[in-house]
Amino acid sequence: MTKTELKLWVASSPKVELHLHIEGSLEPDLMMALAEKHHLELPYANIEEVKNAYDFENLQSFLDLYYFGASVLKDEDDFYQLMWAYLLKCKDDNVVHVEIMFDPQTHTERGVGFDVFMPGFKRAMQQAEQEWGQSCLLIMCFLRHLTEQSAIETLNAATTYLDDIVAVGLDSGELGNPPEKFTEVFKMAKELGLKRVAHAGEEGPADYIWSALNALDVQRIDHGVRSIEDPELIAFLIQSQHPLTVCPLSNTKLKVFKHMQQHNVLQLLDLGLMATINADDPSYFGGYLNDNFFAVIDHLPVEKHHLQKLIENSFNASFMTTEHKIKWLDKIATY
Ligand code: ADE
Ligand code: ZN
Repeated sequence: MTKTELKLWVASSPKVELHLHIEGSLEPDLMMALAEKHHLELPYANIEEVKNAYDFENLQSFLDLYYFGASVLKDEDDFYQLMWAYLLKCKDDNVVHVEIMFDPQTHTERGVGFDVFMPGFKRAMQQAEQEWGQSCLLIMCFLRHLTEQSAIETLNAATTYLDDIVAVGLDSGELGNPPEKFTEVFKMAKELGLKRVAHAGEEGPADYIWSALNALDVQRIDHGVRSIEDPELIAFLIQSQHPLTVCPLSNTKLKVFKHMQQHNVLQLLDLGLMATINADDPSYFGGYLNDNFFAVIDHLPVEKHHLQKLIENSFNASFMTTEHKIKWLDKIATY
């Protein structure tokens, strides 16, 4: 198949997205509209200027703009609009199931509580489910640059919304904030019946992936591309089949890899790790899920069987019910 044919095939296939920060889907036009609504000053005169600012040196330089951008989200309808805009992209990209991360502390730290953002998220998710059968779950992430105590307070503040949350996650600045810093709160989350995921091995070393597996007992690793530096870890991941939610455009934008041609997602897949493709923060990194597949098709020696495996892996790696999973795996097997 030509690259064009592969792209058409991927675009029309049903897919799953497992690593998507809802705050990272805030498009510049919505950011500017919300700033105007709430009479907030932004350091950008127009959308072009916002886009030009998205030129990052590393993870931290991105996070500074990402947390600043989220400050325009203030009332229930803002969070509804944010979620609704992303779910419309899912419909366009044939993303039939999505597990969406959100960062409560980014909002609670500026006085915007669970009773503001959760109803907004839920209203959009219910509408998408009703209108076109969108399937969505929520992952609540703790900010690792803050203390474990703050994460525990966040878990407690979520008590009345636990039925709406499938898992907890760990994100923000990785270096200097190893997973084991959050051992206690992840144990509490497990006791509450929540699944666990953590960003590890994005900028941080392979040791952080071991620590996410051993101290936090995670079901999936977000990113995990630096696992390649540790042969013992690679052997473990091949055997255990812990999924990696890899984000190609994010990794090149944040200079984890200099160029897409150097990205190791195909290498990981060919070695037998359970790699998946995801968008991370699509508004900041230049593309949604299909764009991430297209970038991989453009720059790596991808064949159709790779794409089939990546898509099948995302269904298998998801937290959807077994019944739902079997239904979709049957469907994509004959696709
Ligand atoms: N928060 C949003 N995107 C992130 C990323 N790629 N790494 C860590 N924290 C994040
Ligand atoms: Zn992420």
